[in-house]
Amino acid sequence: MQVVLYIFTCILQANLQINLNTMKTKQNILVTGASSGFGLLVATRLHNSGYNVIGTSRNPGKINVPFKLLELDIANDDSIKSFSNELFKHISQLDVLINNAGFYLSGLAEETTIEQGKQQFETNFWGTIKLTNELLPNFRRQRFGKIITVGSIMGLFNFPSAAYYGASKHALEGYFKSLRFELNEFNIKVAMVEPMGFKTGIISNSFVAEGKINDYDNYRGKIEKFSKDLFENSPEPTPVINTLLKLIEEKDPTFSHPVGKGASVFWAIQHFAYKTFENSIIKNINKFNN
Ligand SMILES: NC(=O)c1ccc[n+]([C@@H]2O[C@H](COP(=O)([O-])OP(=O)(O)OC[C@H]3O[C@@H](n4cnc5c(N)ncnc54)[C@H](OP(=O)(O)O)[C@@H]3O)[C@@H](O)[C@H]2O)c1
Repeated sequence: MQVVLYIFTCILQANLQINLNTMKTKQNILVTGASSGFGLLVATRLHNSGYNVIGTSRNPGKINVPFKLLELDIANDDSIKSFSNELFKHISQLDVLINNAGFYLSGLAEETTIEQGKQQFETNFWGTIKLTNELLPNFRRQRFGKIITVGSIMGLFNFPSAAYYGASKHALEGYFKSLRFELNEFNIKVAMVEPMGFKTGIISNSFVAEGKINDYDNYRGKIEKFSKDLFENSPEPTPVINTLLKLIEEKDPTFSHPVGKGASVFWAIQHFAYKTFENSIIKNINKFNN
């Protein structure tokens, strides 16, 4: 009798484990900007782990990926609408939204046109918010879900030559900090990942300030060399992908997740000893004297 009971318990446990695994691997995960960089890597890792991944790109026909890739331009209202209609033809519930799409506008603040600055916000800030808003009624109906947004370490502090980029990422931090409280009511979890510089397509896909003011020639020269050095020596993006995967698995993640060598130390120094932080950045830039 005891043997029968033992076998019965084992079968029950095995079944339970299979069901839990099935539940885990059948989560629907949406990754925006999945044609390159962090998005492509995380979407591929998730797909290979058995999740049902839907990625997005403005030109989905241009590349071959192992997961479903739908068309979406987050800077275009019509594109967001038609994407959302298309998305729910493929899935009935959305477990996780990874807001990853974005680009980098570099250049000294005064040399950047307001039009360029607006375009930066149109994608990085408004595009992210508009897509999130479009999907929120669905998340609320479900009474569960997770929204993970890829911000930047430049959303926690900033460097020269990144005024609009950093501002767009700071704005995301502020927005999602507030939204996190509001969505907690509905069991929808909100978190951010704030990477330092990592090797992706971000530099080749970046835009540069259109204006030139002679007064800045010397400083611009130093900053360009400083930035080039930073990006050329940036590491492979594995830690960012691992952090995103961890956040998907976590039941109740905390809000902020800086990633990269010294990210947390940097954050703490600028928070508690801003002058020290500032001086170390200036010292590093001055190494590149023309
Ligand atoms: N790499 C870094 O060092 C770093 C550091 C901190 C934060 N980040 C952030 O990480 C995120 C991903 O960037 P990445 O480094 O992986 O760069 P990436 O290789 O250039 O990838 C950017 C992705 O965003 C998509 N995208 C750009 N504009 C879009 C738009 N208007 N609508 C929809 N999709 C758009 C691109 O897709 P399509 O061109 O196919 O549409 C592409 O898949 C960005 O939010 C970036 O700000 C990167």
